[in-house]
Amino acid sequence: MSSDLQKGTRLVLGVESSCDETGLALVRIQPGQPPELLAHALHSQIDMHQAYGGVVPELASRDHIRRVVPLARQVLGQAGQVLQDIDLIAYTRGPGLAGALLVGAGFAAALGVALDKPLLGVHHLEGHLLSPFLSVDPPTFPFVALLVSGGHTQLMRVDGVGRYTLLGETVDDAAGEAFDKSAKLMGLPYPGGPHLSRLAQEGRDDAFDLPRPMMHSANLDFSFAGLKTAVRTNLVRMGWLDDELRLKDPASRPVLADLAASTQAAIVEVLVRKSLAALKRTGLQRLVVAGGVGANQRLRDQLDEAARRRGGRVHYPELHLCTDNGAMIALAAAMRVQAGLAQPQHAATFDVMPRWELASI
Ligand code: KG4
Ligand code: ZN
Repeated sequence: MSSDLQKGTRLVLGVESSCDETGLALVRIQPGQPPELLAHALHSQIDMHQAYGGVVPELASRDHIRRVVPLARQVLGQAGQVLQDIDLIAYTRGPGLAGALLVGAGFAAALGVALDKPLLGVHHLEGHLLSPFLSVDPPTFPFVALLVSGGHTQLMRVDGVGRYTLLGETVDDAAGEAFDKSAKLMGLPYPGGPHLSRLAQEGRDDAFDLPRPMMHSANLDFSFAGLKTAVRTNLVRMGWLDDELRLKDPASRPVLADLAASTQAAIVEVLVRKSLAALKRTGLQRLVVAGGVGANQRLRDQLDEAARRRGGRVHYPELHLCTDNGAMIALAAAMRVQAGLAQPQHAATFDVMPRWELASI
């Protein structure tokens, strides 16, 4: 089936539903050409989950059900294609929330049966990792990838599509989790990362002395749980824990901005230091940054500067493709097809993998 898909022009539909974003996209593959994004559409559930301070899995699944069909119609309309034009249906197989994943997988399978087209289950992190190939300045293999999302923080050596070696990862919280949990303690809305980094612009990086656990360890692993605890300790000391009103108080806001800036500086410094260590250890020059935290401007500025100093390059996905989306799922499937690595399944036999190691694929 794979060789058949490698011939001629093919259309891949991508479906992402692993967490709180429903993403659909159409990517075209032609032999000898890079995959081309024809259309993508996204519905973010952020507003819905905000009231609960985090993702409510059952609500997420129900909302994916509501959104997936209209979004599929939208991308087909945008690309001027019809359902019968689709050659392969790619869906996020994992990791992620089981119920949310099942909605995307179930939709993909139903469509596959109806159209008699094959399915391909894609690893969510492979989608993130390959997403810079849709940018105007795509990387070339091999490179080191820093994957920084809400659930994962990993450094990988990437030698080609499907050739991923884990170099290091977090032993506790993910970088996105460190942003989100610290922000929540400060009374900022969910998801905390973007809110915290916006507030940090008003503050001083060195106002609070926060820990950078494992920054100088000999390996390429990370640890962020101690940072969150330090943020909590500072807030408890000031009597401001989980206090949403503090931000509106003109006397407190600069102090919270200082805490936000110091938190961001600690996370970014560790990520930069370890990324550079990974480049040094592998002898590679190119770094790819992917996942939601890759949208952080401070991280981008510091990585660019550090890479420039050692004559290397950093590649990012387009800003709107940093967080979860269907384009990266369609792209990963397309690149697997082009590399001859895709093993599409018959639509009647789909599954999901809520826990799934990228290095194992
Ligand atoms: O990749 P992603 O959309 O979802 C997962 O697969 O987890 O990443 C979401 C994470 C959240 O933790 C969010 O707070 C963080 O990315 N994030 C940011 C920024 N934008 C998103 N963190 C720091 N600064 C940002 N600008
Ligand atoms: Zn993600």
